[in-house]
Amino acid sequence: MLTDIETLANTRNLTDDGLKALLSTDEYDGTLFSYADRKRRAVYGDAVYIRGLIEFTNYCKNNCLYCGIRCGNQNAVRYRLTDEEILACCAEGYRLGFRTFVLQGGEDPYDTDARICGIVAAIREHYADCAITLSIGEKSKESYRAYFEAGANRYLLRHETADSAHYRRLHPAGMSCENRKRCLYDLKEIGYQVGSGFMVGSPYQTTENLISDLRFLQELQPDMIGIGPYITHPDTPFAGYENGSLELTLRLIAVLRLMFPYALIPATTALGTVHPKGRERGLQAGANVVMPNLSPVRVRKLYSLYENKICTGEEAAQCRGCLERRVRAAGYQIVTDIGNPVRPGGEI
Ligand code: 5AD
Ligand code: FES
Repeated sequence: MLTDIETLANTRNLTDDGLKALLSTDEYDGTLFSYADRKRRAVYGDAVYIRGLIEFTNYCKNNCLYCGIRCGNQNAVRYRLTDEEILACCAEGYRLGFRTFVLQGGEDPYDTDARICGIVAAIREHYADCAITLSIGEKSKESYRAYFEAGANRYLLRHETADSAHYRRLHPAGMSCENRKRCLYDLKEIGYQVGSGFMVGSPYQTTENLISDLRFLQELQPDMIGIGPYITHPDTPFAGYENGSLELTLRLIAVLRLMFPYALIPATTALGTVHPKGRERGLQAGANVVMPNLSPVRVRKLYSLYENKICTGEEAAQCRGCLERRVRAAGYQIVTDIGNPVRPGGEI
């Protein structure tokens, strides 16, 4: 197995059989995580980048079976932030040292291209030195281009699962893996820094599915890769399904770090939700980004993709301080610069 880990570290690749063996046992975790941490330190040192997450709407026209803000969830209390509220979150974030704002929301029909472009342009005007990341789902290439021209420069869209049969079991008819992949390639072509990723331990997921996810990412070559454990939500058809495991998520973060030494990989809120030290463990397994919440506290609980989400009672400044301490205790340092991906040739 050591040779498998070395092969992965040296060639950034491994056979399906090698990956399967690595993912199927905890026996090699210590070695795997230390290789991943060494790789991450070689590229990024002990830097941990922070991204301020603004969850600006929980309206969603989609009905993904795993997600708490699916349109079919009648129990979800819906909200949407005004332009002024979004800008106030950015102002507070900027004051706290954030230089990336991530606007995330459900696929809300209220968010016309004109609205999104207006918000992006206003943020761009006030914060020329910041990155603007959008995470608002599947759109046409024209829409993506319009947001880009308004000043957005990064886009997060997890592919969720690269296997089309598995995708169909997680989503209603009308949504497809193919369209999601099309979106990702469109975004790349337009010039965005692109983030993709998947849930670990989602219902019906097999190790083969996870290997397909890794292969898809190798093809896409995203700048950012976000993964987190699936966590059940009581008001979805998947209520009662088991949560994804912390250990398997960590193992995958480590594999991703070795496959994609330059990627920006967050230690996600979902990871912090399944274990009190989940995010710290994620950093130690190769992650190098944290994404604290900048949303107003009054809406925090309502952006409920899954149950028991952490940080729903804390103000932005509290999360910022809390993470500073946690990151330091884990052996790393928060840095407040814009945190663009490092590329082998030095280019962005
Ligand atoms: N558990 C974990 N992650 C989830 N997401 C959505 N629902 C859940 C859930 N129940 C993730 C999806 C989505 C991201 C914003 O949150 O991967 O892309
Ligand atoms: Fe939000 Fe710790 S990061 S309270």
